[in-house]
Amino acid sequence: MQFEIIAAHDLDKQQQQQIAELCFAAFDEDPWSQYTFMQNAVHIIGILDDNIVSHALWTDRIFTLKDGITLKTAYIEYVTTDFKMRGKGLASKLLRYLTDVLTTLGYELTALQPEDETFYKKLDWISWWGDLYIKQDASTYLTDDYQIMLFPLSAQLKERLTHNLVDDTICADWREGELW
Ligand SMILES: CC(C)(COP(=O)(O)OP(=O)(O)OC[C@H]1O[C@@H](n2cnc3c(N)ncnc32)[C@H](O)[C@@H]1OP(=O)(O)O)[C@@H](O)C(=O)NCCC(=O)NCCS
Repeated sequence: MQFEIIAAHDLDKQQQQQIAELCFAAFDEDPWSQYTFMQNAVHIIGILDDNIVSHALWTDRIFTLKDGITLKTAYIEYVTTDFKMRGKGLASKLLRYLTDVLTTLGYELTALQPEDETFYKKLDWISWWGDLYIKQDASTYLTDDYQIMLFPLSAQLKERLTHNLVDDTICADWREGELW
């Protein structure tokens, strides 16, 4: 499988169509017609025999920890493999490649809201048990119904977030649609 990383606005018509089909099959929606901020997403596609067989995208967020430290975060969504090609390790390869690329691009953290944690746990993602806050205009509020997973991109951050010894919290800016 070959990988390509493409900004949403640089996808050609065929790529858009193939990604839309994959996302409709898995999530009953494509990324772009839901939320305008997805126009700023960056896609990673896995290609076999000229077909997109596996996909994920990320959008940029800043996560702020309890002590005010800010983390350049890639928030990952729409992770899916063509249902005919599942169970062959494609999404695992794609996510491993993606976290490597994000490290070289200067990201400090990757995060997502999992449908099922098992798949990501096998890839060493960690579950976040601390509080999650959203900052909207002048107010900051707790969002207690969400579970996210994290893949810290440095050993130091991994140590801090895995053990959560300082009873950390994560705060991100409000966004339209799903907050997490
Ligand atoms: C989840 C998904 C992306 C995995 O793609 P894939 O290319 O088949 O993944 P891989 O082959 O790399 O890995 C599959 C592994 O995860 C496990 N797995 C896959 N989907 C799983 C699920 N929903 N729940 C639990 N485990 C799952 C498999 O058992 C397999 O484990 P193994 O390697 O020990 O056999 C794919 O099943 C999919 O598109 N699902 C629908 C969309 C979705 O739920 N996306 C995740 C959104 S957070």
